Amino acid sequence: MRETSNPDWHFQRPELADFYLKSFALKLSNSRALFARRRMGKTEFLLQDLAPAAAKLGYRVIYINLWECRDNTNEGVASAVINSLSSSASLLDRIKKISGKKINTIKLNAKTPIGEGSLETRFEPESSSGLTAKMWQEIDHCKEVILLLIDEAQILASSNNADLAAALRAGLDVRKQKVHVIFTGSSEHTLRDMFAKSNQPFYNWAPVEPFPLLDNLFVHHMIAVSNHILDSNYHLSYDDGITAFDQLKQTPELFRRFLEEYLIRPFHGHQAAITSALAKTYTDQGFDRLWSDLLPVDQVILQYIAANQGGLSSKNTRLLLGQRLGMTELANHTVNNALARLFDKQYLSREDRGVYRFEDDHFEEWVNMEHPFV
Ligand SMILES: Nc1ncnc2c1ncn2[C@@H]1O[C@H](COP(=O)(O)OP(=O)(O)OP(=O)(O)O)[C@@H](O)[C@H]1O
Ligand SMILES: [Mg+2]
Repeated sequence: MRETSNPDWHFQRPELADFYLKSFALKLSNSRALFARRRMGKTEFLLQDLAPAAAKLGYRVIYINLWECRDNTNEGVASAVINSLSSSASLLDRIKKISGKKINTIKLNAKTPIGEGSLETRFEPESSSGLTAKMWQEIDHCKEVILLLIDEAQILASSNNADLAAALRAGLDVRKQKVHVIFTGSSEHTLRDMFAKSNQPFYNWAPVEPFPLLDNLFVHHMIAVSNHILDSNYHLSYDDGITAFDQLKQTPELFRRFLEEYLIRPFHGHQAAITSALAKTYTDQGFDRLWSDLLPVDQVILQYIAANQGGLSSKNTRLLLGQRLGMTELANHTVNNALARLFDKQYLSREDRGVYRFEDDHFEEWVNMEHPFV
């Protein structure tokens, strides 16, 4: 391997960032809700492409990851906004600070919810309603237009966040010119419900669209950066890259793991690197542990869904699943309760009435491999 100074692994997406910012500038919309499966690059895009591009245009950017403050969303949201807005650092510096950090390390902490601004500022504990009032005050005092990036937005759809969602909607409604919002999430169904159901606080508030996925241009970039580092005997061809990307279900995170494996042991070949990238994903995500923490009924439902069988709620299926558990037929509410737990943990999402799918393809693959429904 050759020494290289600071390889830039991030594949930039300036056109996509421009596209969203232009549609705000043209007043075509004030908000968007974008969905894509897990590990497809939503957060990296928000932090490394969209936020810096918006900051350059003069936006004040606020990033909130709701999953990280899901135990205390009211306080988490208010603190993130307040911390960001009361920071004295220049916009670009603040963005550089977040986008220069490893994605995993900038996520908000559940116990002490902090926003990107908290890198510079801290607050004394305050009551939740006091914090919320202060949040709107800070927003109203801010001179710039705000771009609010709400990551893992599906958390707002859970019933215990109904009050927060309603309050946000009410507050944002009267500040449409002042605050532009991008919601992102991994569950298409939940986002659609949030924005398309008339009984939901965010009804009709943002168009729900797929987040454009990384494609072969991303592979090109990553292969070029890798070859720059690799000894010429071990250069990867673009076709090898595409093969790996396809085998890894076109998941950018896994593709990066594959390259990491290959760069360390190129002499084992690219197929071996694909295999270890997958194996590492299974262990790093702790699927074993995840699995053993589940109730048997939740496990059998995941196995059933991973095996691609339909009609989960039918009498026959409930009988079959009950037998697997050494019982009689599972009651409808038992299946529904299990599904509710699995939605809550974000292992499953509902695609359509009675149609469920894994939020994480790799977890599904692992269940099929390790615990097949036979
Ligand atoms: N533009 C990019 N250039 C290079 N690597 C990327 C890019 N986008 C994503 N990745 C890789 O994929 C990983 C996952 O991306 P990210 O965390 O943004 O996904 P996500 O869609 O937010 O996932 P989740 O729904 O689980 O939060 C990143 O840590 C990075 O390794
Ligand atoms: Mg993310």
